[in-house]
Amino acid sequence: AVLYLAGMAGRRPPVPVDADELERRALAVMTRRAAAYVAGGAGLERTVAANRAAFDRWRIMPRMLRDVAQRDLSVSLFGRTLPAPLLLAPIGVLEMAHAAADPAAARAAAAAGVPFVASSQASRPLEEIAAAMGDAPRWFQLYWSTSDELVASFVGRAEAAGYEAIVVTLDTTLLGWRPRDLDLGYLPFLRARGMANYFTDPVFRSLPSEAGERPALGLGAIGSIVELVRSWRGRGGRVEDLRSGEALAAVRRFIGVYSRPDLTWDDLPRLRQWTRLPILVKGILHPADARRAVELGMDGVVVSNHGGRQVDGAVAALDALPAVVAAVDGRVPVLFDSGIRTGADILKALCLGARAVLLGRPYVYGLALAGEAGVRAVIDNLIADLDLTLGLAGRRSLADLGREVLVEGGFD
Ligand code: FNR
Repeated sequence: AVLYLAGMAGRRPPVPVDADELERRALAVMTRRAAAYVAGGAGLERTVAANRAAFDRWRIMPRMLRDVAQRDLSVSLFGRTLPAPLLLAPIGVLEMAHAAADPAAARAAAAAGVPFVASSQASRPLEEIAAAMGDAPRWFQLYWSTSDELVASFVGRAEAAGYEAIVVTLDTTLLGWRPRDLDLGYLPFLRARGMANYFTDPVFRSLPSEAGERPALGLGAIGSIVELVRSWRGRGGRVEDLRSGEALAAVRRFIGVYSRPDLTWDDLPRLRQWTRLPILVKGILHPADARRAVELGMDGVVVSNHGGRQVDGAVAALDALPAVVAAVDGRVPVLFDSGIRTGADILKALCLGARAVLLGRPYVYGLALAGEAGVRAVIDNLIADLDLTLGLAGRRSLADLGREVLVEGGFD
């Protein structure tokens, strides 16, 4: 309400409130490559569009005169009570959006009490991100390396740095076909700043530089290495590294180990042995996969299609949600991402059974436009929008949300 009044009083918000305008303005200030990387998706971006369109097939049916003066958005998740059913999704190479990168976004999340999910491909080491957050909740997202030792090392570092859950991403054992990046001859996460967790890892450093035959990358990597050399030269003090071949060797090593395309369900139990933390699997769309994850002792499921960046033509994430919720049947929390832009979107996902949602691109846009303050504004706006939508729908808390709040089909 305070936010709303501030807006009405003509106080200029630090970032556009409207989600489309936020995207437009942010893309305009980003480099061509950063914009392509963040906004882009797989193929013709049909699934990027489908993620949004899916929300329009559900309508909210508001109820009147139910005393909604006191509202409560809090939700409990893995022993924490969160102020709202919202987390910041793991996003790699945040330095593309703003030099302050992950620690700035993490500080904004911490100030709002919203968990920050740090990416394996963060621009800063996970310890530095943690240090920016105090005691605020944080999770670590894992790309399963070809080296189990490296996976165990990442998980151990995350535990030591106070991360409270491991999110293992299953939908990116191969990198999707992303024409916008390919046309620029470029894979951004191969820049030094997407490899901070690797370059600082003792296991990674001890791996032979010949490791791997680039199982997860194709031709695009070549352009990226050229780009890397260029950007390396552009920064003072790194030329020696290059001359000694160390930097390129490290990049080659990264390409060889960052992801494991032959990963199967039989591997998951090993992760359980390496950590006491709750483990969530991210990228689940099929209900049978969700069931399998629960049977293997996973502690949570994130329904997601990676924001449409992996399989063009994949089912919209929201369309996949109800069947996954039914298959999981309350045994573990089901989280959701891919396409969340407004409070009404969050409300719909919760009504369809999500315990909480993760926000992707919009917070990157906030970061690009105004750094930490921009991320904070995006979070605050979204929570305020959800709060008003909940109350105006005639509901007071998340416990009041269910399928009966929605009507299927548009009115158009
Ligand atoms: C991602 N996503 C992602 N996911 C993950 O598990 N690890 C990662 O490193 C990244 N990196 C990443 C970079 C960029 C630029 C984007 C846009 C996305 C996927 C992300 O966590 C989330 O699933 C989607 O962003 C959700 O979709 P929306 O909210 O962007 O529509």
